[in-house]
Amino acid sequence: MPRFEPRGAAALTDSSVALMTELNLILLGPPGAGKGTQATRLVDDFKVAYVATGDILRAAVDQGTDLGRQAKEFMAAGELVPDEVIIGVILERIEEPDCADGFLLDGFPRNIEQADALDDALGKRDRVLSGALLIDVPDEEVVKRISGRRLCQKAGHVYNIFSNKPKHDDMCDIDGSRLIQREDDSEETVRNRLRVYNEMTAPLEGFYDERGILKRFDGTRTETEVHDHIRATIATLRLEDEL
Ligand code: AP5
Repeated sequence: MPRFEPRGAAALTDSSVALMTELNLILLGPPGAGKGTQATRLVDDFKVAYVATGDILRAAVDQGTDLGRQAKEFMAAGELVPDEVIIGVILERIEEPDCADGFLLDGFPRNIEQADALDDALGKRDRVLSGALLIDVPDEEVVKRISGRRLCQKAGHVYNIFSNKPKHDDMCDIDGSRLIQREDDSEETVRNRLRVYNEMTAPLEGFYDERGILKRFDGTRTETEVHDHIRATIATLRLEDEL
């Protein structure tokens, strides 16, 4: 695995000035498992680039780009955007300079074809995945959580009316903007997203387990407990890699 001089100075302590190993991670889990919630914390902990496929696609839809036009209907229905539309976008994204020291992929890969494409692309650059982090949450909890999710219109800060309420109804604590629901968060669409996850994405658990890099986390614990567990696991992964 390539070695590199870490650029994220804030990630370092005095005793970690030695060369560190590239940290390339993927987050797996059903809709509403808490992938985005945990990603925000983990990129801060480990100073890796955050690549969230759903965010990239939603921005493209809002901006009316070609990518957005091709993705829009699939997303609204809770179906996967076709591989030929999404794979190239993500593989190009992880070639960008900010991903050179490591990345956290949220929402990619989502089927075996995407996982194979990622493996091939990384292999060509002599890079490997460090871990596949699976956040497990049962289906009925997913439906409840997603019905309670609210996002701030300005910056996408995430709340939940059951577990993480804003101080004032419908207003972001951080920037005061209005809180909205995602278009694909209706119960009908969430149930379809779950079906798609179980059919298309869940097989990746076996795919990465066979490669020895799958790590499971109980996503029904509190956000802080899930974060502590994932952070400790990544820290151990990194230590093992450096030995
Ligand atoms: P995407 O945006 O990736 O959606 P998703 O995978 O369905 O995941 P979510 O963003 O809904 O949930 P999350 O796990 O991030 O949960 P969150 O942290 O917000 O994809 C959207 C669409 O884009 C897809 O349907 C598809 O059409 C398309 N797409 C994307 N990638 C693609 C690809 N690779 N190929 C093809 N198509 C693709 O948390 C949810 C809520 O729960 C929040 O309110 C939060 O506050 C709360 N919460 C979080 N953790 C906890 C906890 N521990 N306890 C209690 N509540 C919690």
